[in-house]
Amino acid sequence: IRSALQSRSLVLIGLMGAGKSSVGKRLAATLGLPFTDADNEIEDAAGETIQEIFANHGEAYFRDGERKVIARLLSSGPQVMATGGGAYMDPETRNRIAESGLSIWLRAELPILMKRVRRRNNRPLLATGDPKETMKKLMDQRYPVYAQADLVVETRDAPHDTVVGEIVDML
Ligand code: S3P
Repeated sequence: IRSALQSRSLVLIGLMGAGKSSVGKRLAATLGLPFTDADNEIEDAAGETIQEIFANHGEAYFRDGERKVIARLLSSGPQVMATGGGAYMDPETRNRIAESGLSIWLRAELPILMKRVRRRNNRPLLATGDPKETMKKLMDQRYPVYAQADLVVETRDAPHDTVVGEIVDML
């Protein structure tokens, strides 16, 4: 496995609720690699939560920080990284990931995403309007771009450990 990775990072992409952070943590532990969570790193760097960043500075500011933080993390050596759902939509970030990492799309259908995001109420993009409609729109916009990922894992409603096993088998 590790030789196939050739000291590249594994970067998990996908929509909110796809399980990027949960799967990422377990995948990192399984492979003996450090785990990084881009959203957490953005919050640390800003000294504000994601909601606060969106509320106080707007989405464009958040995206700027996200791009910088991911660039910094990727340059820090092999790791398993969970990204926020919008990160891979940025062309610069996509290029960087392609250069230094292997991208893995955790694909999930709408009902699963909705079930999972209901549990956490910290997504500014879903805070206004009908969350299901928003999620559908995001699927339409993002899935064609996410499809550029090196690997795609159809998560269905599988436990995180099952998804980790499928990823390890593909490496
Ligand atoms: C976002 C997803 C969030 C977070 C921010 C924006 C998005 O991360 O980065 O709220 O644009 O899809 P998760 O995918 O980890 O929820």
